[in-house]
Amino acid sequence: MNYKTMYKRSLDAPEEFWGEIAKDLTWDKPWEKVLDDTDAPFYQWFTGGEFNTCYNALDRHCETGRSQQVALIYDSPVTGSVRTYTYAELRDQVAVFANVLQNYGVARGDRVIVYMPMIPQAVIAMLACARIGAIHSVVFGGFAAKELATRVTDAGPKLVISASCGIEGKKVIPYLHLLDEALELAGAADLTRILVSRPELPIEKLHPSAVLWEDAVAQAQPVDCVPVSATDPLYILYTSGTTGEPKGVVRPSGGHAVALQWSMQHIYNVQPGDVYWAASDIGWVVGHSYIVYAPLLHGCTTILYEGKPVGTPDASAFWRVIEQHKVKCLFTAPTAFRAIRREDPAGELLKAHDISSLETLFLAGERCDPDTLHWAEDQLGVPVIDHWWQTESGWPMAANPMGIEQLAVKAGSPTVAVPGYDIRVLDDEGREVPRGQSGNIMVKLPLPPGNLPTLWGNQQRFYDAYLSRFEGYYLTGDAGVVDEEGYLWVMSRIDDVINVAGHRLSTGALEEALITNVNVAECAVIGVADKLKGEMPLGFVVLNSGAAVDEGELKKSLIDTVRSQVGPIATPRDIHIVTRLPKTRSGKILRGTMQKIADGKPYKLPATIEDPAVLGEIAVSLGKQEA
Ligand code: COA
Ligand code: AMP
Repeated sequence: MNYKTMYKRSLDAPEEFWGEIAKDLTWDKPWEKVLDDTDAPFYQWFTGGEFNTCYNALDRHCETGRSQQVALIYDSPVTGSVRTYTYAELRDQVAVFANVLQNYGVARGDRVIVYMPMIPQAVIAMLACARIGAIHSVVFGGFAAKELATRVTDAGPKLVISASCGIEGKKVIPYLHLLDEALELAGAADLTRILVSRPELPIEKLHPSAVLWEDAVAQAQPVDCVPVSATDPLYILYTSGTTGEPKGVVRPSGGHAVALQWSMQHIYNVQPGDVYWAASDIGWVVGHSYIVYAPLLHGCTTILYEGKPVGTPDASAFWRVIEQHKVKCLFTAPTAFRAIRREDPAGELLKAHDISSLETLFLAGERCDPDTLHWAEDQLGVPVIDHWWQTESGWPMAANPMGIEQLAVKAGSPTVAVPGYDIRVLDDEGREVPRGQSGNIMVKLPLPPGNLPTLWGNQQRFYDAYLSRFEGYYLTGDAGVVDEEGYLWVMSRIDDVINVAGHRLSTGALEEALITNVNVAECAVIGVADKLKGEMPLGFVVLNSGAAVDEGELKKSLIDTVRSQVGPIATPRDIHIVTRLPKTRSGKILRGTMQKIADGKPYKLPATIEDPAVLGEIAVSLGKQEA
């Protein structure tokens, strides 16, 4: 079936389409309804069905001849180690750790926070939660204590799983003081912790509420999978929204597995047994979906890479991994390729490696600039596929569906809507715009399986943030165009979310950090274009009158505050001290206009601006011509 026919069928007959696909998985109890619209606009998939994700990702393959196939390769240039786990080994370790969780009182529906570096225990912890129907919430290791605390408070976990440290290039990053501080902030100082003591930073003094991973495992026995309802949450993953308060994206167990397994073959064009590598972090949605769940559900070998594209040891790191493990499909963020290109523009380091196993490179997480795409194509000699999705969807919304039909690549476009996604571009009044015109990128409801059915504990916020803008549509938060040939072009965000090195951040969270400084009366953070990271945060602060400060000291202290409250990944490029912020007459800060000035782009003077002269000061502060 070609792409057009399959796409049409997915929208015309969604129940038949997804119902057939779902039969490829093992169900403990068949569903009663493929698509349940009784509570529209809140849709559910596979209601009445019972299912276990861990069974489908591990046990099922062990029972059908893959037990000795490598499931997981842990490749860690930062510790100089490579370790493989067969499907049988991974299942056995997960089954035992699932019992550890039970021994500490975790049961179906309970939440478990996973704050871990890229080590196999993180994957084992996630799958062990899935095995007993507990809901994991992985928090990216680059987030600081306050961000972790917000997530702990919202998720209300029974337990936290963590490790003594992460390793970032050559730096050892201690975790436990951040964890203790976060739990203190969240009013959960006594919460049980299961901790991995890494040789790079052995734990010397154990917190009274903590137990070492290996000690806990020594007391446990393997346990079986617990069937859960297909609509039960598999995990919560917090993502940045317009405000500083992160949104707890809920992932439904059944629909998620159905969509992910389908995507492996139809989008990524990989078969069971192939080696698939998503060079991301388990703290992000790409890591959840394409390091852990999708490759295992599909019977592939997945790679957990604890390293960077450059500096571990150099810009040939990716080529070494591809060659050593015979990677067929690589998925990473464009920023990683920009980093490699910056260090090795002529691709000299690639010449020493045989990367002939590689068939495709997929890029996502941020807009892929055509220059980077072409450079990657030239170097690798394989199709380079930009595809578009978000934490909320959990799997691609637009892509070149390589396993259905390879469509022509248009650099700068993530190609076409994936089957299941009825993508429309609407103007600000909710009217569909003609092809070629830009507007809000929306998805006509229902969203396909795997997408978020709600936000954790906050159905109203889910409705307000995503469904209320135009009735019957899901608001992606992105703006762009569908061209004459049906290709999507994702151009920008319509909210205050910025994308730094593929990491999604809320300017609101950074502003909340800046405003804690006693000298700061008001502040604004914008994302400005950056050659390596795509965007970088830039702060503007207005000081309290009479504040006597050393500007250099203040800037340094503000940057440190962002690093310690949000995390080092959010480090602002600079802070500008200004006397006023440009605002509309109703008091809304004109971040979009400030961003255009900073990026040297033309802008229109907003009709509602309070005082146009303020923009002049911003321009001067940025060293740009006054408008
Ligand atoms: N734990 C702790 N700290 C972390 C961290 C983690 N998991 N990840 C990043 N940091 C820290 C870094 O050490 C750095 O700290 P520093 O300012 O003290 O040096 C800071 O956060 C910024 O890190 P990063 O944004 O990664 O910048 P970089 O200059 O170190 O590296 C790239 C640049 C492009 C190589 C890197 O960002 C990268 O590999 N990006 C790919 C991103 C990706 O895969 N995204 C997933 C979407 S698919
Ligand atoms: P996240 O939820 O962290 O995955 O970030 C999702 C957001 O990243 C999207 O809403 C887009 O703004 C941006 N994004 C992801 N992939 C792409 C892409 N291929 N092209 C353009 N923007 C992208």
